[in-house]
Amino acid sequence: MMVAKIWTGALAGAALTFGLSTAAHSADAEKGERIFQQCKACHTADKGGKNGVGPKLSGVFGRKAGAVEGFNYSEAMKNAGVVWDEATLGEYIKDPKTRIPGNKMVFVGLKRQEQIDDVIAYLKKASP
Ligand code: HEC
Repeated sequence: MMVAKIWTGALAGAALTFGLSTAAHSADAEKGERIFQQCKACHTADKGGKNGVGPKLSGVFGRKAGAVEGFNYSEAMKNAGVVWDEATLGEYIKDPKTRIPGNKMVFVGLKRQEQIDDVIAYLKKASP
């Protein structure tokens, strides 16, 4: 994916700075923040945020599924054997029920890949 982005950036022409040319085609954390409103009913993303209906997402990248102290996870989530990164988180929020059967996150899933990319970009910024 990175390679594709750099390639697109290169094609966009020398007049654009690298930053501008990639921004035109990559995930947008600001849009992601708006999409995160759908998650906010249950999750916090900021550092120091608390568990709610769902576990806090601060520090989620690189963390094992079901590992937030003090959150009452389903057995399915605790035993998912997943480490959250862009790929695993993207698959999960696309279709939570199918990706981890029996988990208790009641969320239909984000259907559009841009929404998934944007919300991940936001989470990376909000909860690195
Ligand atoms: C209706 C409440 C609700 C909504 C809305 C919701 N979640 Fe969740 N989420 C949960 C619950 C509950 C769990 C724990 C599931 C379990 O233990 O089976 C969870 C788990 C997760 C996990 C795994 C965390 C961990 O510590 O392993 C991630 C990542 C996640 N949600 C991301 C999101 C994102 C991103 C959105 C919005 C696109 C979202 N969730 C929307 C309730 C929700």
